[in-house]
Parts: sequence; structure tokens; C-alpha cells
Amino acid sequence: MEKKDRITGSYRAYRNGRKAIPLCALREFGPPHFCNKLEFIAGLNEGNGMDRIMIHGGKPLAGEVHISGSKNSTLPILAATLMTSEPCMVHHVPDLSDVRFMLDILKYLGAEVSQLDKNTLRIHAREVKDVAPYDLVRKMRASVCLLGPLIARLKRCKVSVPGGCVIGPRPIDLHIKGLNSLGTNITLEEGCVVSNSGELQGTTLSLGGRHGSTVLGTDNVMMAATLARGTTVIEHAACEPEVIDLANFLNSMGARITGHGTSTIQVEGVDRLNGAEYRIIPDRIEAGTFLVAGAITQGDVMVKNVIPQHLQAILRLLENTGFAVESGNDSVRICCNGTTQAQDFATSPYPGFPTDMQAQVMTLMCVTPGMSVVTERVFPDRFMHVAELQRMGAQIEMETATAVVKGVDHLSAAPVMASDLRASAALIIAGLVARGDTEVRRVYHIDRGYEHIDEKLRTLGARIERIHES
Ligand code: EPU
Repeated sequence: MEKKDRITGSYRAYRNGRKAIPLCALREFGPPHFCNKLEFIAGLNEGNGMDRIMIHGGKPLAGEVHISGSKNSTLPILAATLMTSEPCMVHHVPDLSDVRFMLDILKYLGAEVSQLDKNTLRIHAREVKDVAPYDLVRKMRASVCLLGPLIARLKRCKVSVPGGCVIGPRPIDLHIKGLNSLGTNITLEEGCVVSNSGELQGTTLSLGGRHGSTVLGTDNVMMAATLARGTTVIEHAACEPEVIDLANFLNSMGARITGHGTSTIQVEGVDRLNGAEYRIIPDRIEAGTFLVAGAITQGDVMVKNVIPQHLQAILRLLENTGFAVESGNDSVRICCNGTTQAQDFATSPYPGFPTDMQAQVMTLMCVTPGMSVVTERVFPDRFMHVAELQRMGAQIEMETATAVVKGVDHLSAAPVMASDLRASAALIIAGLVARGDTEVRRVYHIDRGYEHIDEKLRTLGARIERIHES
């Protein structure tokens, strides 16, 4: 495939039969009797199918690594391009399979997507369909963020809702509550969210739930409110940098949003949005993952093109553990500073410690002297990595949403199975420090959210290799 067409063209390449579908994928999903089934399999495995990653552990990482655009900003921002009939240009889009899934959905809905350079997309949604089918939506839980844009633009939609996933149940009650407060009258029919409303009307509403606010729920309500009549006040809004990024993008399209980044967001409705050109923020979770990789290997790593403010909770924990952390304007360097000591930590919404870094930092605690209590307060079931880390010699005991980790002298290499995106990152980090050769299987999980992680780690000196399954 031509490099120029890497993000938008790969799905088409599979459809044209240029790449073989791995047998193991057919085994997992049954025989491809029907064309749409075949396309589903091709889409799911698009890019890197059942590739494996081999890591020969024990080498300290050293050098600089450039951080890509944020996955969790990109997905809602791409969805938001559906809210205008004018073209939008988005820069710093990471080359990830989740991004390709989202582009497939946008194209299905009627948008023209062109790739202008490696990380720049032009999206033009002159007309938009109101139905997003299950076979496209099911591949990615984040496709729920299509609800806000479709409701805002068309006042009606039928979007298949994704179920739970390995990190636990993924309810959307708060999304629906928020959208209904604006007058959407949503019903659930045959696994789809169906909305058929007239004009939306601004109001005051709350998005507080049992585990805090909701990131994509805040995105959905903010997008719908942008084209509602009057003013909407969203209380208990999520404060994550990715919500701020979406609000900034919408404002560059002509929206009137204030208060983003705090727990109260105000949206003054406008009649229409225009096209815009925008650059996605750097991925704080990718940056945190590379810093932990540097720390665990006792290396000296600098992440470049980051917003250090977004990394504060992670940097504080690494410093308390005993690493030397130096923040620049748009970079952070980590290196060893003598002895280290295990730390307790609990995940919570921003600016707390991010759930998306729990697995990676728990892995660091596995080889840090002392005892660490890790509590998951956002997704209480997000511990799929624990069993695999135990197989590598980690000493972890689980008690509901808490893991008690006793630091061991070393981890031992083993074949391990990636189960979700951040668990895969944790297993790669474990492999970097383990004695021997670690094989991480099902790495398509990691390709959903880390741009070329194996290549980037190699530039830092890691002995890591991807084995393509043909
Ligand atoms: N929740 C509800 N009701 C809802 C929505 C959420 O009870 O209607 C609960 C969830 O069950 C969870 C908590 O609220 O306990 C937070 O969930 P949230 O809605 O904030 O998660 P999300 O918006 O679906 C985004 C990220 C996740 C990240 C979470 C938390 C994207 C595309 N996804 O998900 O990222 O873990 O926020 O920060 O932005 C990842 O990148 O690996 C990932 C899973």
C-alpha cells in the first residue's frame, strides 16, 4: 500500500483482497459465508491481525521519543466534523486502528475523507446519514460519541450501542440522561439508541455518576448543546484534557463554549457551525507509558512534544517512587536517582491518577522494593493484566477493586496474552525488564491506541521485534 494512503486506504485494501485474512481470525469468528462478515473480520484485523511482539528484556532504554496525537481527543473530534457541511482539516492525527475504525464509520455516514499527509486528514460531511450500523460500531466502544454530533446536526439518529468490554461494564445511562435533558426523547430499540426530536433546548443538567463524571458523555452532551436553542449548563462535567481539546475544536468551528476544563461547562447554542483547521493535543497516556518504560528499565528517556501539565499525577507518583523527573516546556525526562520505594495509588478522574495508566504503573510496582496498594476507582474490574503479570513472577493479590503488589527482584519472560489496550502496554513494559524472551500475543489491542510502539521503543534501544502473522 502506498504510504500516502496509510490511514484511509487500508480497509479498502482488505476489501480488495490484497491481504490474506489469518486463519486464526477465521477460526475465532466462524467462516466468512457472507460478504459483510468477511468485511467485519478484515476490519477487525486490519493492520496487524494476530501479530506478535517478541521482547528480549533487560536493556535500559535511553534517548528521546516523539509523542503522537491523543487517541481519546482524536476520536470525538473526528466525530464532531459531522456537525458541519463545510470541510475540516485535522492535524496530528495518530495512525491507529481505532482512528481507522472511526474513519470507516464517517465514510459510511457520507463524509469524504482524504489523507493530506502522514498525520493530517481533511473531512467533508456535506450530507450525513442518520444510521450507524452494528457491524461498524461494535468494533470500538468510543463510537458512542457519534450520538452527540448526529443529534446536533440531524435531530435524529439510530446508533447501535456497544456493550461492555474486558475492562468492565460500559453503561451509557449518563449520556442518555444528559441528552434527554436537552429534549432528545431517546429510546433503546433492538440494541440501538434511537432519537427523534425537534429543536433541542438548552437547560441545566448534571453528569455526576457513581464513579465520577463521564468523559464521552460530557463530549456528547456538549456537542448536542452546541446546536441547541439557548444556554446549557453542564454540571459535574468531566475535566479531562481531551474534553478541553474537543471544546476548543468546537469553538474554532464557531461554537460558544466556556468553562471547559472545570466541572461546570456553559454552552451558548448557535445556529450553525463552520469548517475549521485544528491540531490534536499530544497523547498524555502514550507519554506516561514511555516514561514508565524508561523508569522500569532504569534508563534515561525523554518524551518530546508533550504538555507536562497533563502528566502531573503520573510525574508525582514517579518522583515519589524515587525517579528523577525533569519537565521542560514541551518535554519530560526521566532517569534513575538511586533507590526506589513502592507507592500506593488510586485511580480517579482528571486531575487524579488516570485509570489508563493503572496497568503500566502497577507493572513498575511489581519490580519496585516494598508493598504497593493499587485501587481502581474508575473501572473497578480493570485488572485483566494481573493474571498475566503473575505468570511472569509478579506477586499480586487481588481483593475486589484493589491489588496488593509486593515488589520482587525480577520478572521472568513468558508467552503472554494481551486482553485490552492498556493491559497490552503493561505486558510490553514487563517484557522490557523481564529475564529472557517475552512473547506478547494479540497485539492488535495495542495497535488500537499506540502509534508504532515497537518502532518507537526500538529507537530507545529496546530489543523488540514484531512478528507478522501471514
Ligand atoms: N459511567 C456510567 N454511566 C455512563 C457513562 C460512564 O456509570 O453513562 C461510568 C463508567 O462505567 C466508569 C466511569 O463512569 O465507571 C467513567 O467512564 P467514562 O464514561 O468517563 O469513560 P469513557 O468516556 O467511555 C473514556 C476513555 C477511556 C478512559 C475513560 C476514563 C475515550 C475514547 N475513552 O472512556 O479510555 O479510560 O474515559 O478516563 O476517550 C483507553 O484509552 O484505554 C480508554 C479506555
